[in-house]
This record gives sequence, C-alpha cells and structure tokens, in this order.
Amino acid sequence: MPITLLLAATLIPMPSSVQFSEGSLEAKTAKVSYAQESSIPSEGYRLSVNKDGVKITSSTPAGKFYAEQTLEQLKENGKIKFAEIEDAPRYSWRGAMIDDCRHFFGKENLKRVIDLMAQHKLNRLHWHLTDDQGWRIEIPGKPKLTQISAVRAASPRYGTRPHVNMKDISPYLNDEKYGPFFYTEADIKEIIAYAQSKHITIVPEIELPGHFYAALAAYPEFACFPERMKGKGPLCAWGIEKDVLCLGNDNAIKFLEEVLDYVCKLFPGDVVHIGGDECPTVRWKDCAKCKNRVKQEGMKDEHDLQPWITRRMVKFLEERGKRALGWDEYLLGDVPKSAIGMSWRSRSGAGAGHKFLKPEECVSRGHDMVMTPCTHCYFDYNQRIKNDPFQYIGGNITLEKVYSFDPSAGIPENLKKHILGGQCNNWSEYTFNKFDLEWKMWPRTCALAEVLWTGEKRPGFDDFKRRMKNHRTRLINQRVNCAPLE
Ligand code: ACM
Ligand code: ZN
Repeated sequence: MPITLLLAATLIPMPSSVQFSEGSLEAKTAKVSYAQESSIPSEGYRLSVNKDGVKITSSTPAGKFYAEQTLEQLKENGKIKFAEIEDAPRYSWRGAMIDDCRHFFGKENLKRVIDLMAQHKLNRLHWHLTDDQGWRIEIPGKPKLTQISAVRAASPRYGTRPHVNMKDISPYLNDEKYGPFFYTEADIKEIIAYAQSKHITIVPEIELPGHFYAALAAYPEFACFPERMKGKGPLCAWGIEKDVLCLGNDNAIKFLEEVLDYVCKLFPGDVVHIGGDECPTVRWKDCAKCKNRVKQEGMKDEHDLQPWITRRMVKFLEERGKRALGWDEYLLGDVPKSAIGMSWRSRSGAGAGHKFLKPEECVSRGHDMVMTPCTHCYFDYNQRIKNDPFQYIGGNITLEKVYSFDPSAGIPENLKKHILGGQCNNWSEYTFNKFDLEWKMWPRTCALAEVLWTGEKRPGFDDFKRRMKNHRTRLINQRVNCAPLE
C-alpha cells in the first residue's frame, strides 16, 4: 500500500487490520448495507468501502455499532476512503470511572462522557456513586441519604489545591454548601438506557466498608462510635477516613444489603462494584460490637472483618445474578475467586497500610482482574503539558505514558485470560466541573482506548500522535475541551 494512503488514516483506536486503496465515496450518498456472520468475534466487525458502497458485517449489534464508529472516522472532507478493515477488541473490559462524589457532574455531563466513550469503543462506565464526601444515589426508604449525605457544608473553592494538612482546609472553602446533588431513580434509568443504546454497561459502585462517612453522617447508628458522628455531615476535605461502617452491627449490614438489593434491581449490568479500598481497622479494634463479631465468627482479629464482609457481599450479589468487583485490597484474606479485582496500587508502594497484592498473585488465585494502576490510569494525575491551567492531584501521567500501558504486564501466559482489560479512573477531588473533566480525560482516554482495543497490535506512539493531531480537531469540532498533546 502506498505510504501516503496509510498516513491518511486517522482512526483512533486503530483497527487490527486496515487496507486502504485509491478512491472514495461521497459520504452523503454512500449506501450502507449490513450482513451477519457468526464467525466474527462478538464486538468485532468487517468494514468494506469500495465502489459498490459500504458493507458492514458483524455477529452482534455491538460489532455493528463499532463498525459505525469507525465509519464515522473514515469520513473526511465529505468523502469516505476505500478501505478493507477487519477488527475486534483485544480486551473485553474497556472502561472509564467517573467519581461523582468529590465533585458532581450530573446527567447531561455523564451523557457526554458516554457519547465520547462510545466513539472510542469503550464499553464500561464505572460510576463511583458513594464516598466520604457525598452519596449520589437516591435509595427508596432511606431519605436521609439524599437530605443529609448528598450535601456537604462547603467545598474547596474552584482551582484550589491546598498544600496543607487537609484537617485545616477551612481557609480554602466556599461559603455556601455543596449540594444536595444526587441522581433519582428516573435519572439513573435514563442514563442506563442512554448507555445501553451505545453498548456501554454501567457498573455502579457502592463503597464499603470504608469511604462510607457520608452515609454514617445521616445514619450515625451504623458507625462503631455513633457519638463521634454528632453534628457531622459529609466530609469537606479529602483523605482516608477512620470512621467506617460498624461490621459488628447486624442492622448496619441489613442497611447495606437493602442498598445493594436496590442497586442490583436498578442496574441491569452483570457487575456491581463494592469498593473495599483504604479501609482503616482502628475503630473495629476498639468497638465492642466488632470485637464480639470477631469472637463469634472465630476470627483472629479485626483484620479479618473486611474479608468477612467481602465474602458475605460477594455471595449476596451472586444470589442476585451479579459478580462483585472491588479495589485490590478487598482480595486480601479469604475471598472467593469469583470476586473480580480492580488493581489500582502501584508496584512501588503499598497503599492505605494494606499489604500490596500483586496482580500476578490475584490471577494465580483465580481472580479476574481489571487493571487500572495509578502509574498509568489515574487521569487526575498531571498530564505534563505546557501552560496547563487545570489543577491536579500528585503524580505525573503523560499521554505517552498512557500509551505505553500494558494491562497484562508481568502476568504469566497461561493466566492472561484473567486480565479482563482496564480503565481510566477520573477521581474528582481537584476536578471541579465538566471543562476540567474533559481536559483531563482527553486526549489521554484516546491513548487508553487504543491500548485496550488494539492492544499489542497498536502501531506505536509516534503514529498515534500523528493520528491524534487530526483526531483532536475532530474532538474540538464537537466542542470537547481536549487538552493539547504536549
Ligand atoms: C483508590 O484510588 N483509592 C482506589
Ligand atoms: Zn464496630
């Protein structure tokens, strides 16, 4: 193929196999025909553009949808180039996580995220709905979760990143309260349907047993020491909170199960995320109820409580037809191998005082894993571009670094099947609004999409950058607040 034809291609993510030839169709009048062929992998497709028109062949509606996304990108200056494309994804889990708790983005912004994910053939939206700083999902029969847990007394002013002890955050706070911000059942159903129309499965996350402070502010009776919660609301500062769900209290567990039961009914997807990260055990150590639980269940000490609740919730979800997913700490201890892990900690340092569980260890125990290491996938980390006006949390993740991500790195060949894929995590402590969110997500999510879709067949960063220059214009034409490449 002449090199000029290859260079003309600005597809992102790059398909597994592309052959261009001389000639093109008028985009406006091109006829598109569809065919089904069961031998084509699910989500895969064949796309032919020649003088007879456009032909899309697939085995599933998702494959057809992805072919249409590619077709959109083939349209340039009113023409569609002649091409033969065969394509299928490397990984089945191609995701993005949105933290709607630290800052709230709302329905229209989420739909926008969904639109852009779909254009890049991403298929999992992990929705971080509950945390210490806010509870964002209305639960029938639990009105205080929206009246109290969905509103915090104040929030850091736009653009602030106080390099101070977060306990002394008061000089940096706005005067007014933040919220109430939450999604109703109708909102959630609308977002689910919208995502489904674009072949995206929503994975709701209900954090437990840590990162639960917003709920405890409304229902202090479910904390180990209710008196500590007196007059408290969701936290205004970020960090790791010691007041967590009391696992010795049967009513607290019942509360959790009622929430999860509702979540299982509301969300049609196959996976529910139950958090599990950064859960200190100090309150459990001193709590009479928790100590009693440890004794009754024949546990060694309070460190066995988290695996105990994880086992119980994994089973609870399985009884409702769902698989449990959680941050990698939740796999520590005796946890069934049906539990999926989300590997987030870097190899260079353990997080939150927990032993670091290497991804290769997790897969060797039989867990499926979604890879989202903070070294490559945390898009709230600095992207290191010139004159960047947005504020970041610590750490650097350039576009090139994202492109170099290998979700299966270090995994023995026979266990690679357990690596489902990966996702970017868009934590929002310092991501204040949709402009900020888009700037941090794009173009880095384009690089991630190519890692997850094209996998090892991707052509290399220089070629990606060349295509990305054009693709960025495509995004900007849709008014995406896409950051520059460097
Ligand atoms: C995490 O970043 N705490 C999962
Ligand atoms: Zn307790």
